[in-house]
Amino acid sequence: MKSTLRIILGVALALGASLALAAKPVVIKFSFVTTLDTPKGKAAQAFKAYVEKASGGEMKVELYPSSQLYKDNQEGINALIFNNIQLLVPSATKLKGYNPAFQFVDLPYLFKDNDHFKRFTESDAAKKLLQSLDKAGLVGLGFWPNGFKHFTANKPLRRPADFKGLKFRTQTSGVLEAQMKALGATAVPLAFSEVYQALAQGVVDGQENTLSNIYTQRYYEVQKYLSLTRHGRLDYVVITNKIFLNSLTPEQKKIFMDGIAYANQVAFKEAVGLNQGALEKLRQRMEVVELSDEDRAAMEAAMQPVYDEYAPKIGWDLINAIKALR
Ligand code: SIN
Repeated sequence: MKSTLRIILGVALALGASLALAAKPVVIKFSFVTTLDTPKGKAAQAFKAYVEKASGGEMKVELYPSSQLYKDNQEGINALIFNNIQLLVPSATKLKGYNPAFQFVDLPYLFKDNDHFKRFTESDAAKKLLQSLDKAGLVGLGFWPNGFKHFTANKPLRRPADFKGLKFRTQTSGVLEAQMKALGATAVPLAFSEVYQALAQGVVDGQENTLSNIYTQRYYEVQKYLSLTRHGRLDYVVITNKIFLNSLTPEQKKIFMDGIAYANQVAFKEAVGLNQGALEKLRQRMEVVELSDEDRAAMEAAMQPVYDEYAPKIGWDLINAIKALR
């Protein structure tokens, strides 16, 4: 009789546990500011598909694109630290409050091409940067690419003199402020979600971003010229928080990490094509200004003072490690 009771109790407990599991999947809230049709959006969708399939529905990924939940400034980072969301992929420079070295990504003409950036993401220097987030309760999981930035405005921009007196939306970054100053212009830091309106209302004269962001944010509706300056990069850091990561079982953690690794591959696979495709579509909607070698050299020379001011803050060790991977 006793053993029958024990069996019944055991079955009831197992059923209860599996019902609880079925009723309560692990939810991963992933907030980002771009649309789904961007390198970040595609990688996010790949992560969701992988994790939900591999966990058999035990883990659920909720995607919140287009700043619908948080902006990825401090508001988003705080939400992550307090575990209100579990994944954030801000552009690297937005983490400068935790380590000023994350502004490396803004340094003009530092990266030669997309492969150079990829080599950096696999380097010890990149791992060290990610580890520096540890003390804030954050866990750096890797870097995802977007690509090279270009300027837009309502006039063609080829040489430093063309920028004089204009106002440009930038991300909040000392390096970008110094960059615009070096060109005789002013940086106006604004959240990504506010840029279209600021351009439409003439609060700023222009902005800098990747081709996929320029296209998916429809800046072509409010800007006439796209100047292919390719003067800097915009790339991302994938971050989660320790509270969430420590709450996962070893199996769930493996699925989560494998999902990140898979999404990482997708991000690198998609980024170049998405930016190239965006350029083709932008050519039909804007005047595209190509720079000659001389124009490019003049732009690069004008931006050199940025290194004098910011290389010591970012660290020559990191900059030289990146240059060595050219
Ligand atoms: C993003 O690509 O996540 C937005 C970058 C920006 O603020 O310009």
